[in-house]
Order: sequence, then structure tokens, then C-alpha cells
Amino acid sequence: MRTVDTYNFAGKKALVRVDFNVPLDADYRITDDTRIRAAVPTIQKILSDGGAVILMSHLGRPKSGPEEKYSLRHLVDRLSSEFNTNVKFAADCIGPEAAQLAQELQPGEILLLENLRFHKEEEKGDPDFARELAQLGDVYVNDAFGTAHREHASTAVIARYFPNDKVMGYVMHAELDNARRVLDNVERPYTAIMGGAKISDKIQIIEKLMDRVDNLLIGGGMSYTFVKADGGQIGSSLVEADKVDLAARLIAMAKEKGVNLMIPVDSIIADEFSNDANVDTSLSHHIKPMWMGLDIGPNAREMYADVIRDSKTILWNGPMGVFEMSNFSVGTEAIADAVVDATRRGAYSLIGGGDSAAAVNKFGYADRVSYVSTGGGALLEYMEGKTLPGVAAIERDDY
Ligand code: 3PG
Ligand code: MG
Repeated sequence: MRTVDTYNFAGKKALVRVDFNVPLDADYRITDDTRIRAAVPTIQKILSDGGAVILMSHLGRPKSGPEEKYSLRHLVDRLSSEFNTNVKFAADCIGPEAAQLAQELQPGEILLLENLRFHKEEEKGDPDFARELAQLGDVYVNDAFGTAHREHASTAVIARYFPNDKVMGYVMHAELDNARRVLDNVERPYTAIMGGAKISDKIQIIEKLMDRVDNLLIGGGMSYTFVKADGGQIGSSLVEADKVDLAARLIAMAKEKGVNLMIPVDSIIADEFSNDANVDTSLSHHIKPMWMGLDIGPNAREMYADVIRDSKTILWNGPMGVFEMSNFSVGTEAIADAVVDATRRGAYSLIGGGDSAAAVNKFGYADRVSYVSTGGGALLEYMEGKTLPGVAAIERDDY
């Protein structure tokens, strides 16, 4: 693989695509800096070679043009203290100011460009926009694994302007390495834990996993579409009415393939979607009218934890309940506990997807699992067997 280790950055300006799409609160403070911390080694490598770093990223999904809440300016202080230097900032990622700041940049210095998505050309993969960005640097480094499934100007198209000077960073390399560990030659039992609100986001990955895993544990909002497909009464729980047939098909498919597909036997239910709601425990198949399941229940917790503790390979994507609310975080925490336990006893565990990664961070378990991915959609698409444009653009000569 073409990684930063194969490249000497001395005297070069490295144009580094990072995924600094980090969550900010109402005061623009960074609430989870995982993606920033992840990119540090790549940036350090370039700087210690004697290179200069030009960072480019998107933040959020701005609709049309600049918006304060999506400005990467909010990251300047965090980056400056990380690298003990005054990180420079270009208020537009292209144009004369960016060009001049890039031109004047000295070895050891860092320049951050404003949000690429303030230009609609970014998401369109516009070649002229990509060329303008390309002119800012001598070498292109892609370390934005979280965005590698997008064929955008800065993630893929730009690589064509650096046929001999394109490499991937350490994040990208580590992510691919770790994803491969749950794809090929896995140790069994192999357990996938799939949570989150919607089945529609996870259909393809669930279908793919059916051919690979021994156990498939379902949690989160999407559980109730499965419960309904299984003939249960789910009250006012979240349901994707148009996916009930599909859920039934997945249940049948699991039987055919001998996969142990588990749906939570019980749930923590509430009479409204709020941490202040009245709370009860119920069989998932017999939820009272007007009540909704917001977390897996105590029996499901125990059954899932037993399966997880006996597993040798674990892939976890998506929380078990509304873990942001303390009354509905117990299920997710119990699963995290079991994953940590299994890891300590030698299992390999990969946590992927923004929400499950955030949950693992919240409970302070990030260092006690094998790997926490910075990717959500990108990891799932890779696992589904799709080509990631951000990877292909680096690895293929003819891109
Ligand atoms: C993410 O957070 O999923 C990545 O940064 C990609 O963002 P996107 O889904 O808006 O393309
Ligand atoms: Mg996304």
C-alpha cells in the first residue's frame, strides 16, 4: 500500500484530506475529538520529515455556501494546542488568500482550509475545483477514512493531479487493516451486533453478514420492525412500516443459513420519547399501546452478553437504545461491558459507526476494545464489498 511511510515529505507541502467532521455544541465546542486525535500521527510524520501540512476537510452538510456553524475555524485552537504552533487558517479553501497562505507556508507549519463543502463543486466532484485545490500542494495525502465512500473532489478526483505523489495516511491504513480482520479468516464464533434506529441503513450489511457470522444480535430502534415482522405488538415503538416484510425475510434467511439471529426478548419501554418519561420493562412482543421500546431489557442484556463473552470475533455497529438519555443507556453500556470482557479474554473487537464509537468513548472503553473505527458509512460500505473511491484513487494508477 502507498502510505505516508513510503514518502519523504522534506521540503514538500502536503495537501492532507482529513475527516474533521466532528460534533460541535451550540457554542462551537468540540464534543468528541476522536477524529482529530486519529489524524495526529499522519500530520506529525509529515512535519517531522520537514514538510508543511495543508489540512482540508468538510464539516457537516452545509446546504448552500458558508454557514458559521459549519466553519472549520472552530477547530483552529484545538489544532494549535495539539501541535504547539499557530495553525494558520484560510477563510476560503480556494482563491487568492488560500493560494498565498499556501505559498508562504514554511516547513513545520500547518494551514487549515475552510470547509470544502462551502463550495458545491466539492460534492459534485468537479475537476476544476479539484485542480484548484491540487495547486496548493506538492503531494496529496488521503487520511479521511470516514469520507472514503464519497467520490468528491477532495477525496478522490484530486488524486488525478498527483499521479506520482499520492499516498494514504495512517488512519486510512489502520482502518483498512482492521476492517479486513473481520472480513477474512476470522476466528469463531463470530458475532455481529447491529443497532441504531433504522433497518434501511443496514439492510445490505445485514445480508452480507448472514454469510459470515455465527450470531447476529439486533438492538436499537430497528429491533421493533423485526418484532413486528415476528408477529409482536410493539405499541408506538419506532417502526419502518415498509421494511416489515424485509425484516421477515431476514429472519427466514437467518434460519436457512443457520445464523443465530437474536431480537431483544424484552425492552425498557417509556410513555414518551424523553428521559423524564414513565419507564417500565416489557416483553418486546407485548408492548402496551402508546408505549415505546427505547432500550433492550434485562433479559436481552444478559442473553446478548452471554453470546458476546463466548465470541472470538466481534463487530459492533449502532447502539442498543437511546444511550444519550441515561434511562435508556443501560443496554448499550452492558453490551460495551461484554465486548470489553471478551476482548480481554482474547477476542478481536471492532467498533464502527459514529454512534457506537461515541458510546464506547462515553463509557470510557475506547482503549479496552481492539479498534474503534472513525468511519460509519465508509466502514459499512467497505464491509459490504464496495470499492471506496477514496481508497481506489490512491491505490490505482489509472484513477
Ligand atoms: C461522516 O461523518 O459520516 C463522514 O464525515 C461523511 O460525512 P457525510 O455522510 O456527510 O458524507
Ligand atoms: Mg455519514
